[in-house]
Amino acid sequence: MCGIIGTTGAPDTCALLVAGLELLEYRGYDSAGVAICDRATGGLWRARAAEHAGSIGRLRTLLADAPRDPGASIGHTRWATHGRPTEENAHPHLDCTGRIALVHNGIIGNYRPLAAGLDARGHKRSSQTDTEVLVHLVEEEVASGADLAQAVRRCLAVVRGDFAIAVVRAEEPDVIVAARRTSPLIVGITASAGIVASDVAAALATTRELYALGEDEVATVRPGGLEVVDLTGRPVEPRRIEVSWSVQRAMKGGYPDFMSKEIHEQPQAVRDTLLGRLDGSGCTELDELEIGERELAGIERVQFLACGSSFHAALAARQAVEHWARVGADAEVASEFRYREPVLAHRTLAVAVSQSGETVDTLHAMREARRAGARVVAVTNVVDSVMAREADGVLYTRAGPEIGVASTKSHIAQLALLQALALHLGRVRGSLPAGELERASAAMSTLHLAVADAVGRGEEYCRVAERFAHVEDFYFLGRRAGLPVALEGALKLKELAYVRAEAYPAGEMKHGPISLIEPGVVVVVVATRTALWEKVMANVEEMRARGATVVAVADDGDEETAELVDAVLAVPHVEEVCSPVVNVVPLQFLAYTLARARGNDVDRPRNLAKVVTVE
Ligand code: AGP
Repeated sequence: MCGIIGTTGAPDTCALLVAGLELLEYRGYDSAGVAICDRATGGLWRARAAEHAGSIGRLRTLLADAPRDPGASIGHTRWATHGRPTEENAHPHLDCTGRIALVHNGIIGNYRPLAAGLDARGHKRSSQTDTEVLVHLVEEEVASGADLAQAVRRCLAVVRGDFAIAVVRAEEPDVIVAARRTSPLIVGITASAGIVASDVAAALATTRELYALGEDEVATVRPGGLEVVDLTGRPVEPRRIEVSWSVQRAMKGGYPDFMSKEIHEQPQAVRDTLLGRLDGSGCTELDELEIGERELAGIERVQFLACGSSFHAALAARQAVEHWARVGADAEVASEFRYREPVLAHRTLAVAVSQSGETVDTLHAMREARRAGARVVAVTNVVDSVMAREADGVLYTRAGPEIGVASTKSHIAQLALLQALALHLGRVRGSLPAGELERASAAMSTLHLAVADAVGRGEEYCRVAERFAHVEDFYFLGRRAGLPVALEGALKLKELAYVRAEAYPAGEMKHGPISLIEPGVVVVVVATRTALWEKVMANVEEMRARGATVVAVADDGDEETAELVDAVLAVPHVEEVCSPVVNVVPLQFLAYTLARARGNDVDRPRNLAKVVTVE
């Protein structure tokens, strides 16, 4: 949940640390800090700031006093788990001598007994974090004669939990030691420098020669040198990462914020994601699945696992799979699936859906599905992410890096890719009616044009949204393919505008929640033309009869719907199975407008982090 950066041998250490931390801020921004080996004094210099979204700005000021002759250096941006987001809990943490510094992303499960042991042996801990035990354990190993890399290896042997760490020591001013288990970490080198980072974007300013550390691997990074070993000290061949995008793509590109940039990149994200996977003539190609067509044809159940917006994409996918492939499908929130002792049907295909490929709930649910006998596929936006590496097969959305904490383009790309998967399953299972494969794949290969049409109406959506800028109570309703859209619309509004927004199946309102409907409540309903349109509109009447103001996502030109509601967010018509990809767009603009009207930071909403690597 935190971001790590480390640099050694590069000419402008402070600028690299700050730029890296800024790129990693999406992983958390409760505090930020750096530790720098000072070649002139032979000591270690540390600065930390805990000013929420202003932490990196403050740190930049503090860096004016940084050592003039810096050696190996590490930095961290934090999303608090253990201990409040204060300066004393900010990373890097120091050992008792002040000569070893460590940053960590993850959670040390057994930190309490480890801390009790350290306290008993006389260590002075100065934070409430789980992380700090690590640096004192390393200190003990160093005191017994180990070098930094040996010390880290020995320390990690007694640690339970998830971690990516980077450690520096005053006595070894060129060296950064990095290690990981579950949480991600990238290392890289040039002829004269070395880099450690939580993601590729933060490392790219230094080099494109990047390697993904594997589970329980420990890297020693020096200027121009990299050694990777396992926890027993056996050398491991580091795995090179192919980087296909530039750091420029991760910048705002002229938009006021990442969210609007990413909303506008959605047509491209859909196009790129479907490229080469379907064509208008009924061909579907999902070779990267690594699961042969014969095996896929024999699948008896599909189990989607995901969290948040990815879960909403999975809900839409469940319907697409049942519609086209005629095989039973479920979508479950990963954090529940994991602890439910799930019993999976024979020949289950488990599909873990995750933008980051790191969400720890989804990762563990995926592992649980595998233990229960399923074949496992990861659908993720991050090449070489932990889920991508662990799954039997992987399908990448090609949305490019998503920096805004709220998922937009990655969610839409997931929807499109999962629909392609459903169609592919339908083809290999022979479950599609004659002509349907050609018709559906032709429709999907032009889906990006419909998304472009919807995104192009952004200003119109914002104007409608402004009328409701100060409303505090929203309901989002939908049925069938409209329900995941309603859920996603409500989630966006909650996370960005901090407004109460509840999503419900439209037909379920009369079983209880309708008692909350009164004048002043705004009901947003997905009312595009499907076989259920009349039923949806009957539900709309029930809301209006109780005084609600109704805003409908409706097909462009649908006058009949427009007459029955108070405001319309018009979208181009696409067939129902594909419709979430288009219908969610106005709801993104709705949330964006309300968030901005309230002065909220749309890229970094409070209390959230882009990548949730804690349970
Ligand atoms: C969506 O806007 C949220 N940021 C959040 O719900 C997110 O979708 C969830 O945390 C899952 O993340 P993942 O797709 O990276 O697994």
